[in-house]
Amino acid sequence: MAVNRRFTLVSRPDGAPRPSDFRLVEEAVPVIGEGECLIRNHYISIDPAIRTWLNQEDTYMPAIAVGDALRASTLGVVEASNHPRLKVGDWVQGLNRIEDYSVCGPDGANGRVDVSRVPSPSAFLSVAGGTGLTAWFAVEEELQPKAGQMLLVSGAAGAVGSIIGQLARGRGARVVGIAGGPAKCARLVERYGYDAAVDYKGKDVDALRAAIAQACPDGVDLLFENVGGICLDAALLNINQGGLVVVCGLISEYNGEPYGTRQLIRLLMHSVAMRGYVLPKYAARLGEGRKALIDLVARGELVYDEHVEEGMENVLPAFMRLFDGSNEGKMVVKLV
Ligand SMILES: NC(=O)c1ccc[n+]([C@@H]2O[C@H](COP(=O)([O-])OP(=O)(O)OC[C@H]3O[C@@H](n4cnc5c(N)ncnc54)[C@H](OP(=O)(O)O)[C@@H]3O)[C@@H](O)[C@H]2O)c1
Repeated sequence: MAVNRRFTLVSRPDGAPRPSDFRLVEEAVPVIGEGECLIRNHYISIDPAIRTWLNQEDTYMPAIAVGDALRASTLGVVEASNHPRLKVGDWVQGLNRIEDYSVCGPDGANGRVDVSRVPSPSAFLSVAGGTGLTAWFAVEEELQPKAGQMLLVSGAAGAVGSIIGQLARGRGARVVGIAGGPAKCARLVERYGYDAAVDYKGKDVDALRAAIAQACPDGVDLLFENVGGICLDAALLNINQGGLVVVCGLISEYNGEPYGTRQLIRLLMHSVAMRGYVLPKYAARLGEGRKALIDLVARGELVYDEHVEEGMENVLPAFMRLFDGSNEGKMVVKLV
């Protein structure tokens, strides 16, 4: 008999998540009721944001309660349906529990996607999923980089940063990325359209400040922040008068105490604006962004990479890899 496996939260991680913080439970495959459909999840998107949902505080999403199932973006196929809009065989993308089978009600957060125009359905969790869309609206709306401007991106080799570089370069901006290690830095320039790359590994804030200054000799006009910590401070030490900082993520702080910034004075002295950005701000326009990204990929004008692990048992190891930087592209776990 088929079973439904899902991960639950046993205890809130104190620092880096450990396997003992989670439990894989098995239950019967759910039976659908009136207006519901049963989705077989084929792919699970493994995102740094999941770590922030494990904390006690609600954010732009409710915190995951101890005892509840973990949550992720998923991509699956409808296997049985009493749903008014979703029929058997439809590919659907949604926000579900990390499990083999999910139930979606009439108002559930799952929408049909057309997988015929993408190289693999998993593109709806990568370039045409949350990370690609985060990059799209960052460039189109939040940053709006112009020719002659210098955009600095941290976490640049990640799923969001790898798309940002290409999109911003297409608008004529000069783009410099910060990433960990020579292989990722080479990738930024050779594959993701960055003009130059800065390796943050092994550098203190002064050395990183100097490395950014060398890559951005006229200073930084726009900063897209994915990492925080000393990356943010070193970048702020290079920010230009009237600059803009868009904070998209602070991954270096997700497993520990907040570091914040020691360079707030740069905002004051250089009239710099700094604001947070989360993708749900553009919830009503996701279809528009998805279409634009798929068109760019189809025309060969945008490349993207996925790091696909297989099997439910690899969900936690895949999640841990986001924090040691050993993922090579958007991390996805393939279940089917
Ligand atoms: N605001 C939004 O709506 C939104 C949406 C999606 C993602 N995000 C945020 O964007 C950021 C990047 O996400 P992603 O999906 O692009 O990343 P990703 O593909 O999951 O890759 C994560 C990368 O972060 C880097 N990293 C991990 N720990 C680090 C540390 N302590 N210091 C410096 N770098 C570290 C590693 O790259 P290196 O090897 O280069 O260190 C790692 O490969 C995250 O902060 C995430 O929360 C925000």
